[in-house]
Amino acid sequence: MTTTGPTESLLATPAGQFYTDPAIFALEQSRIFEARWFCAVRSDDLAGPGAFRTVQVGRESVLIARGRGGELNAFLNVCRHRGAQLCTEESGQVKRSFQCPYHAWTYALDGKLIAAPNLTSMPDVDRTEYGLNRLHLREWLGYAWVCLADEPPSFEDTVIADVGERLGDAGEIDAYDIASLSLGARINYDVKANWKQVIESFMECYHCATIHPELTEVLPEFADGFAAQYYVGHGAEFGSDVEGFTVDGSAGLDRLPGIGEHQDRRYYAITVKPQVFINLVPDHVILHRMFPVAPDRTLIECDWLYLPEVVESGRDLSHSVELFDRVNRQDFEACERCQLSMDSRAYARGGVFVPSEHHIAAFHEWVQEQIAES
Ligand code: FES
Ligand code: FE
Repeated sequence: MTTTGPTESLLATPAGQFYTDPAIFALEQSRIFEARWFCAVRSDDLAGPGAFRTVQVGRESVLIARGRGGELNAFLNVCRHRGAQLCTEESGQVKRSFQCPYHAWTYALDGKLIAAPNLTSMPDVDRTEYGLNRLHLREWLGYAWVCLADEPPSFEDTVIADVGERLGDAGEIDAYDIASLSLGARINYDVKANWKQVIESFMECYHCATIHPELTEVLPEFADGFAAQYYVGHGAEFGSDVEGFTVDGSAGLDRLPGIGEHQDRRYYAITVKPQVFINLVPDHVILHRMFPVAPDRTLIECDWLYLPEVVESGRDLSHSVELFDRVNRQDFEACERCQLSMDSRAYARGGVFVPSEHHIAAFHEWVQEQIAES
């Protein structure tokens, strides 16, 4: 465990423009969200062949659909004829194909062009050439991660490595067997703030004592401002009189069977760059996916995951869900409050990070490296 001494100097934050400039956001879209692995959908949301979901990844609309053989496929959501957006719904179910509403080109669930009116009278159009643009897809933790790059970076080096960096050993997350859990609750948040504000608020805990009264009640060490993410392998310990990770510290749900003694009564928070947060507690997992849609707007889909038998039993999850829902709302309100000032001349040169926020500077360095000219 390393600590930062109180005498350490204050680091400068990025200038306010970094959170508002459309040109910077465009670089982040092309060089981060469209270049790296992006956690798009929960696999179980697409229950059977023909189930689909559309999400925004960088500047692109992405269509993810379950194929006839049960596999997941991801495509650019663009008709190859004249470029109409193929699916305009956020989610749904088709029988066996996607038909473009404009001229009725029809694509199989695996993206192949299977029908187009009058195409037989146009012998020079090769159907095999005009299938949907397929994207790389990989399933991990029960989620489908997609990559828009032609040559995706190593999933192990760019995604799983973040978990290991936080837990000391990426294998530690296997104890929670996240892919086997069921969705107990999902809440969507529409946050009027830049995605980096959201990451910052998740990574630091300097604000915990001020804005998270329920969280610091359950995790008293958070009141000191040193985030759990600050220490490799360190989970924040529940307060001695706290029974579970709930809004009032009351007992939680059934403990996940695989977790070890060292993980019991502890909370771990992990940021998987660029857009996922994973929170691990003994009886559930909370996973946030961020969808940055504008310099000043970020959509967040947050899932609460429990043992399947807990969800099936219909047990009351509200005390469990309410804790992090409140934390989310408290954080997002703070993000929106900061976003309002990013174009102020008072913040034209940015602000400062106090020592307990220094690890956020590393995140900003990472962003700068990604968007720099290669
Ligand atoms: Fe889709 Fe013409 S644009 S069929
Ligand atoms: Fe917070």
